[in-house]
Amino acid sequence: MTVMELLEGNTGAFRNHRMKLLFVAVALLAVALGQTCTTERDALEAIYDATNGLDWTVANNWLSNDPHCEWTGVSCNSSGWVVLIDLSSFGLTGSIPDEIGCFPFIKTLYLNDADMNTAIPDSICLLQALKYFQIQDAGLVGDIPECMCTMEYMQYFYATNNQLQGTIPACVNQMTYLREIHVYVDGRFRKRCEDVFIRGSNVYYIASNQAT
Ligand SMILES: *[C@@H]1O[C@H](CO)[C@@H](O)[C@H](O)[C@H]1NC(C)=O
Repeated sequence: MTVMELLEGNTGAFRNHRMKLLFVAVALLAVALGQTCTTERDALEAIYDATNGLDWTVANNWLSNDPHCEWTGVSCNSSGWVVLIDLSSFGLTGSIPDEIGCFPFIKTLYLNDADMNTAIPDSICLLQALKYFQIQDAGLVGDIPECMCTMEYMQYFYATNNQLQGTIPACVNQMTYLREIHVYVDGRFRKRCEDVFIRGSNVYYIASNQAT
């Protein structure tokens, strides 16, 4: 094993070790956020506050006495768990609060067309049921959190047209259901692993994973 291989995560042993570390990190994150996550309604209120809900450009009933499952852009299953949040084009500004990680059963999270100037918080990785994540043209900066590789059911990760930097984590190769990861490529993203290839100018398509 060469040092370069080690650094690039190109050996099986290294990858497994790295994944274990990531799972431990996410478990610690969950413990740390335990105090922060109370009810899903509280978490939605935290999102409203952090993204300047008063300035949202879409008519909505957030913070009203209506059940939070009926708030604009929120859907729950019939047991009352939030399964979808779509705040695309709501005019979000500000930042994404850690409470974004407080929806254990959410499958769909869309935060497109915003002006947030924020990083993707690591707490996103606590959304262990998430399948569809879109945060395009949202003003994002910073790295793609490597802990995303622990999001077991993630299928489509779309984050084009932001100012993200760094690389696509090599561990995305180990995500069982991941089908597509789309990011803005401005020369700072580099191909890091053999199973990732560029399709078009700004699309990385994960070819080797099985779709269900
Ligand atoms: C709602 O989601 C929760 C978590 O996945 C699940 O336990 C519950 O059975 C679901 N309810 C219905 C009616 O599907």
